[in-house]
Amino acid sequence: MIGILDSGTGGLTVVRALMEALPRVQMVYLGDTARAPYGGKSPETIKAYALQNAAFLVGKGVRALVIACNTVSSCAAGDLASRFDLPVFEAVSPGAGQALEVSRKLRIGVMGTRATVESGIYPRKIQALNPEAKVFCAACPLLVPLVEEGWLNRPETNRIVKKYLHPLKVRQIDTLILGCNHYPVLKKTIQRKIGMRVKLVDSARALAVRLKALVAGNPEYITDAEYSGNRETCRIYLTDTAARFRKTAGLIMGKDISVRRADI
Ligand code: DGL
Repeated sequence: MIGILDSGTGGLTVVRALMEALPRVQMVYLGDTARAPYGGKSPETIKAYALQNAAFLVGKGVRALVIACNTVSSCAAGDLASRFDLPVFEAVSPGAGQALEVSRKLRIGVMGTRATVESGIYPRKIQALNPEAKVFCAACPLLVPLVEEGWLNRPETNRIVKKYLHPLKVRQIDTLILGCNHYPVLKKTIQRKIGMRVKLVDSARALAVRLKALVAGNPEYITDAEYSGNRETCRIYLTDTAARFRKTAGLIMGKDISVRRADI
């Protein structure tokens, strides 16, 4: 069983990608909706929350931890890996690696929360793999609330996306990393605004590809006996189950889902 942690509901884009890639693997998801958004918080606060969230999942008996949130991956992946004695997968490295695979001009844009962009993690990871690469980052703090409100095809959202992408567009990027797990929901708008020639890298999908390789070599991650007979592939816990969070969760998963409340 794999534990997936996120600041809120955006990590369900990762759950969807994982369910497609690994239909037999049992998952437990924790979204810290009571304290989200994390994107404007300090690295210290993000680390403290992430450690509590991970402890909750470890208490459920997970065998590996997946940090679905780019913000948590940017600020707390090392702390989680050293605190817990199990494999920890973060969301930044797979997207960074995939961007280098698909980019021809090595001019890579990154969209993310303020905390992700300020951590400098994407340029560090990408340039560690290829020092020739040029990386340009844009913090897009308004996009998470717009997705959470379900404002996906509104003219206001289109204008804000365009404004955030402008500094990346003038740098003539050929690849753009969606460095926040809410952004895949806005993929079509982002693609239209950045231009059809720019390749989008969905870090949720990149993470799913990496995990698929892990599971292939480690059959113990496949559904535990404790869950046999349970048709739910993923149990979803939220720290606040207000109707709006359940609505966004359903929107991202593309269906009505049952949500449990977690007390951290
Ligand atoms: N889930 C976060 C990420 O992927 C963004 C949401 C937040 O700010 O809490 O970066």
